[in-house]
Amino acid sequence: MNASRRSCRVTDSERVGLYTLVRVERNGLEPGIPGQFFMLEAPGRLLPRPFSVCLAPPGELAFLVDVVGPGTEAIAALEPGDEIAVFGPLGNGYRLDVERPLLVGGGIGIAPLPYLAEQLGGEPRIVAGFRSAEHAEAASILPPQTEVVIDPTLVTSCHLEGWDVLACGPEPMLHAVAALCPTAQLAWEAPMACGYGACYGCVVEIDGALKRLCVDGPVLAAPRVKPACDKLSQATEAIA
Ligand code: FES
Repeated sequence: MNASRRSCRVTDSERVGLYTLVRVERNGLEPGIPGQFFMLEAPGRLLPRPFSVCLAPPGELAFLVDVVGPGTEAIAALEPGDEIAVFGPLGNGYRLDVERPLLVGGGIGIAPLPYLAEQLGGEPRIVAGFRSAEHAEAASILPPQTEVVIDPTLVTSCHLEGWDVLACGPEPMLHAVAALCPTAQLAWEAPMACGYGACYGCVVEIDGALKRLCVDGPVLAAPRVKPACDKLSQATEAIA
């Protein structure tokens, strides 16, 4: 594990649609492989939260934050000059040795795609899906070739078959993508308290065995994570 823990100074925080893009000085941290993640711990908060690298310009790391509770709210409220504890890179990222890359993101799942597109090079095809026009404003952080769809149009209607899909998004979307593209690489989400295998908060069923997603993932080959029954039915509806 080449992860390090640093106190990083916030350089900028801006609204991107309904999300917040927080930039910090790297302070010696490596950005890692796209799809790996960092644990961010805001001052005064006990539990860190996992975020994949969104952008990695020289000297900086940027993370896209969706405020879903007090922890993410504290991170989104940081201002330039504030300090935040940053630990990473952690977990397994995407394999980049693909011939016809197609990047697929849903909602906050677009977060790793700008850095992923940059590391792949060229102008990979990108499809981003959002549940509202306001959420879709976040597509401004994606390269200009990005195809944007808004619910009720789903990313799975965008002819994904035959491409090397690298995806991140809500679980029903990932299962629907996996059903269409059995070789897809998918970045999964789970509650994470430590990020390095100690708390067992991120256990999911992979290939019939319980595994820690922060150690064995978050990026996994398509069919490996067992869907919950209700989510499987949602996925089936999504591609019907
Ligand atoms: Fe603690 Fe995975 S987040 S074991």
